Amino acid sequence: MPSSAGHRRFAAAWDWLSRHESARERRLRARLAGQATGRVLEIGYGVGSNWPHLPADVDYVGIEPDPYMRERAERHRPPGRELDLRDGDAQALDFPDASFDTVIGTLVLCTVPDPAAALREIRRVLKPGGRLIFWEHVNARAKAGRLALGAITPLWSRVGGGCHPNRDTLQAIEAAGFAVEDLRRGKIGPLPAISGVARPAEAAP
Ligand SMILES: C[S@@+](CC[C@H](N)C(=O)[O-])C[C@H]1O[C@@H](n2cnc3c(N)ncnc32)[C@H](O)[C@@H]1O
Repeated sequence: MPSSAGHRRFAAAWDWLSRHESARERRLRARLAGQATGRVLEIGYGVGSNWPHLPADVDYVGIEPDPYMRERAERHRPPGRELDLRDGDAQALDFPDASFDTVIGTLVLCTVPDPAAALREIRRVLKPGGRLIFWEHVNARAKAGRLALGAITPLWSRVGGGCHPNRDTLQAIEAAGFAVEDLRRGKIGPLPAISGVARPAEAAP
């Protein structure tokens, strides 16, 4: 895990990067966060990059375990908007079962130490018929790409706030009992990425 100086530097870097996202990335955030409905939980909200895209009528709770991210996010709180922001860990959510209509997780399952535990928790707190909205960079599908991502992971993780660029996150979402809808594949810089919506499998249409 990165040191706390590492976390502070990463939060500053992420803040800068988030303010300089491409128009395509902003459109993607708008498409994803814009689908949120009802009571919404965002895991690992970072510096709040999805906030400008949330529908006005959602009831939003965000959790973020990194104090440096939380401090930076405060600077980007949209004026006049009620956002319930808390310290928290996606692997042990401090919310009752079936308490959210939507969970948003963007670029976060690469960093959570145990993504399977986080996905179990997300499933637990989603209401029947609720939706997980996700955007994640993921492992390559081709062998050469997997080898390359595996090779850079130790250093990448050290400078990238604990991020693992070589996770099979789509498989992890499905293994956690979600049915994935509207899966889209793309890239974030050179990294393969996926986005979409997933519902607890028994509630899938
Ligand atoms: C690359 S940043 C992405 C931030 C934001 N979701 C976004 O889309 O810009 C990864 C985030 O995951 C958060 N994170 C790491 N471990 C976590 C955990 N166990 N539970 C919730 N969030 C976590 C980090 O603190 C960081 O804010």
